[in-house]
Parts: sequence; C-alpha cells; structure tokens
Amino acid sequence: MSAEALALPVIEKSVAAGVEIQVATEAHVCYAEPICELIARAAAARGTGIAKRKPEYVRRKMNEGKAVIALGPRGELAGFCYIETWDHGRYAANSGLIVAPAFRKMGLARRIKRRAFELSRERYPSAKLFGITTSLAVMKINSELGYKPVTFSELTSDDIFWRGCRSCPNYDVLVRMKRQMCLCTGMLYDPEAEH
Ligand SMILES: CC(C)(COP(=O)(O)OP(=O)(O)OC[C@H]1O[C@@H](n2cnc3c(N)ncnc32)[C@H](O)[C@@H]1OP(=O)(O)O)[C@@H](O)C(=O)NCCC(=O)NCCS
Repeated sequence: MSAEALALPVIEKSVAAGVEIQVATEAHVCYAEPICELIARAAAARGTGIAKRKPEYVRRKMNEGKAVIALGPRGELAGFCYIETWDHGRYAANSGLIVAPAFRKMGLARRIKRRAFELSRERYPSAKLFGITTSLAVMKINSELGYKPVTFSELTSDDIFWRGCRSCPNYDVLVRMKRQMCLCTGMLYDPEAEH
C-alpha cells in the first residue's frame, strides 16, 4: 500500500472507494445544473482559473459522450470534467475539472482526470492535449499523465478557446501580454513526443 493511501483516514478511504467514475451519458443530464452551481461557487471562491459554463453546454457534452462524471454511493455528485476540441481537432482540452468539497483530497481529481485523459486519447488519438491552470493539484496530475509545461505559443491559437479566459480576473494580463503568457501555466501532452 502506498504512503499516500496509508495517510488517508479510514473513513475517507471508504468514501473514495464508493465513488464511481464514468463517461457521462444522457442519463446524467439531471446533474448539469448542480455541476454549474459547483463550478460557479468554486470560481467565486478561487477568483481565477475556471471558465463558467451554462447547464445547456454541460448537457450537450454529456449527450455527446465528452464528459466524465463521478458519483457517490447514493448518487451524489462528486466531480466532473469535460472535453473540448480546438483547431479542427488538432488540440483537445480536459476542462471544467471540479470536485465537490465533501469529496476533496481523496484522489478523486486524479481519477477523473485520468478517465478524461483516456477518453480524449480514445476519441482524438492524434490530438495534442493541453490545459492552462494555476492549480497545483492539476499541475501534479497533468505531470503524472505525461503533460509538460510549455509557453502559450505551443497551445491552440483558436480565438474561441482564449475567449473562455474573459471571465478570469487576470484577463487584462493575458491581453497586455498579447496571449504569450499569463498567470496560468500552459501544459501540453503531445502524442508525437511519446514515440
Ligand atoms: C483542484 C481540485 C479539482 C482537486 O481535487 P481533489 O480531488 O481534492 O484532488 P486529489 O485528491 O486528486 O489530489 C491530487 C493531488 O493534488 C494535491 N492537492 C489537492 N488539492 C490541493 C490544493 N488545494 N492545493 C495543493 N495541492 C492540492 C493532492 O495533495 C494530491 O497530491 P499528492 O498525491 O502529491 O498528495 C478541487 O480542489 C476543486 O474542485 N477545486 C475547485 C475547482 C478547481 O480549482 N479546478 C481546477 C481548475 S484548473
């Protein structure tokens, strides 16, 4: 057993074990509103780093099989993440990662990101996977999955992606830096580099 697993209190380990991670389907659309509320609350608390989304957008991702949902043993919403593609599928991003406060620090974000990573690789095998983040947890998880830190020059130039930064309080920095850098770290998984 790993040192990390030993460090978790027994009750947290059993809660984490009871959480199921799955690719979301139309059966999960009832969770779209609670997911958006969770994201909005986390964005307000952190002040940065999470693009707000409308329930309709989340429902579409579920119907398209481009989202991962984590549910507790009684069907409670535990976490979520979705896939977006840019530059006509040359790039894909796993966005909107959220874990409900009661389920944090149990390794759930790691499990959700891994499933979203696998789903992205299955659906877009030649796409470069990327993300921008200020979150240490996300940086750690991405590094474990094989992402490398890169300058923004290596990421998508798709305007629609960068428009998602408008709701961030640091957007003025991004604009002033002509999108070359900001407070987020860019991270990239390049399937070509794996060969
Ligand atoms: C960030 C977030 C997704 C982490 O979820 P989580 O399920 O608690 O994360 P995990 O338990 O899988 O932790 C993964 C790693 O990150 C670390 N970690 C988790 N939360 C952390 C935090 N707030 N600060 C620093 N490290 C953190 C864990 O210790 C673990 O590292 P370790 O294995 O070396 O100990 C969750 O806190 C959240 O939903 N926050 C609000 C939304 C958000 O910030 N999303 C990211 C947008 S880029």
